[in-house]
Amino acid sequence: MSASLSPTDVDIETALDATLRQAEAGNFAAAEQSCIALLGLLSQDGPQRDGAIYLLAMIRRDMGRPEEVVAFFKQAAESAGATAFHIMNYADCLARLGYVDEATRQYRRVSDSEPDAGREIENLTTRPFFPAFAGAHQPARQAYMAAAIHRKRQGDGPLRILEIGSYIGASAFSWTSAAAALTERGTIIHCVDKWAAYDAPGVGTDALTLSLASGAAGRLFQHNLRFFPPQATIERFEGTSSAIMPTLTGPYDLIYLDGSHLYDDVRSDLRMSQPLLAEGGFLCGDDLERQLADCDEASLRASIAHDIIPDSGPDQFLHPGVTLAVGEMFGPVSAYRGFWIMEKRGNGFRPVSLTGATGWLPRHWPDQQQTRVAADIQADGILAGLV
Ligand SMILES: C[S@@+](CC[C@H](N)C(=O)[O-])C[C@H]1O[C@@H](n2cnc3c(N)ncnc32)[C@H](O)[C@@H]1O
Repeated sequence: MSASLSPTDVDIETALDATLRQAEAGNFAAAEQSCIALLGLLSQDGPQRDGAIYLLAMIRRDMGRPEEVVAFFKQAAESAGATAFHIMNYADCLARLGYVDEATRQYRRVSDSEPDAGREIENLTTRPFFPAFAGAHQPARQAYMAAAIHRKRQGDGPLRILEIGSYIGASAFSWTSAAAALTERGTIIHCVDKWAAYDAPGVGTDALTLSLASGAAGRLFQHNLRFFPPQATIERFEGTSSAIMPTLTGPYDLIYLDGSHLYDDVRSDLRMSQPLLAEGGFLCGDDLERQLADCDEASLRASIAHDIIPDSGPDQFLHPGVTLAVGEMFGPVSAYRGFWIMEKRGNGFRPVSLTGATGWLPRHWPDQQQTRVAADIQADGILAGLV
C-alpha cells in the first residue's frame, strides 16, 4: 500500500482483502505493514477499523508472535458477541503458545457447528504439533538424518542418541520415528535444550527465539512427547550443553548438534561430544550450508559474533560458527543438504556415505513439505528410497 493513500482515494474493503491475501500467501511482514498503513487511514471507530485491528492480530499470531496477541483474542472470544470465528482464532493462538489442552477445550465449544474445529481437535490430539517450523528450510535433511539411522540398524539393544538443541521436538521425533520405521531397535534419546530466552549476541528475535522466551517451545516439546513411537524412551535435560554434557556418561551411537550455532559454542559442543561417542558412533549436526574450504575464512572469522549471515549460495544464508568450527575440527566432512555427519574411528573420524541407505518421509509434516522432500531426495539420487 502506498504512503500517499487516504480514506478518500482508497477502497478500504479491497485493501483489507488484499492484505488478507498477502497474509494467506505467507507474506506476513508485508501484510503487517499494509495493515498498519490501513489503520493509519481508519482513525474513526467502526467495523472497518475493528476488522483491520483483528486482521493485524491474526497476522502477528501467524508470523510467530502469539504471545503479543493472545490477550486480545481471549477478550474477543469471551465477549458477548463472540462467534465461532473468534473462538477458533483464540484456540489457534493458545495452541501455538503450547496450551494445547486449553486450545482443544476451546475448539470443542464450537465443534458441533464448525467442521474445521473438529479437524483441529483431531490434529492436536493425534499427532505432534510443530507450528510454523516443520521443514522450515531444507526439509530433505530429515530424510538424510533417517538414512543415518538406517546405517545403524544392525546392533544390539536400543540406539542411544544425544541431541543438543531439541526446541519443540521435531528432530527428536524424526530420529525416533526413523528408528521405529527403519530398524528393529528401540531408541533412548537424551534431549538437551535451555528452553529459555537466548541471551547470546547475534541471535535475532524471530519466531523461534520468541517462542523460547515465552515458554511456548518448552510446553510444545512436552506436548509432542505424547506422540513419539512407543519404542522410544525420551529423557529431557534442561540447561545449556556446556552445563549438561559433562554430566552425561554415554556412550552414544549418535550425537546430533543443533543447539547454539555460535562459533565458541559449536567448538565446545564438538569437543565435549567426542568422549561421549561409542566407537563407530556418528557425530552429526545441522546447518552446514557451506564447508570451510568453500569460504573466505577471514570474512567468516569477522562474522563469528553472528548466528547467521547472508550468503550468495543456494540457501542464501550460512551459519559462520558451524562452518568454521566443523571445518577446523574435521576439514571437509560428509554433508547432505546441510546435514553433516562423521563416524568415530579410533582417535579420529571418517566420512559417512549414505549412498544406498533408506530414508524416511516426515509424514507428520504438511503435504507440500513431504512432496518437496521426495522431490529433493529423488533429484539427489543418493538414497535407495524413502519409507
Ligand atoms: C534450531 S533450534 C533446534 C531445532 C531442533 N533440533 C529441530 O530440528 O527440531 C536450536 C535450539 O538450541 C537451543 N540452544 C541454543 N543454545 C543452546 C545451548 N547453549 N545449550 C543447549 N541448547 C541450546 C535453543 O534453545 C533452541 O531450542
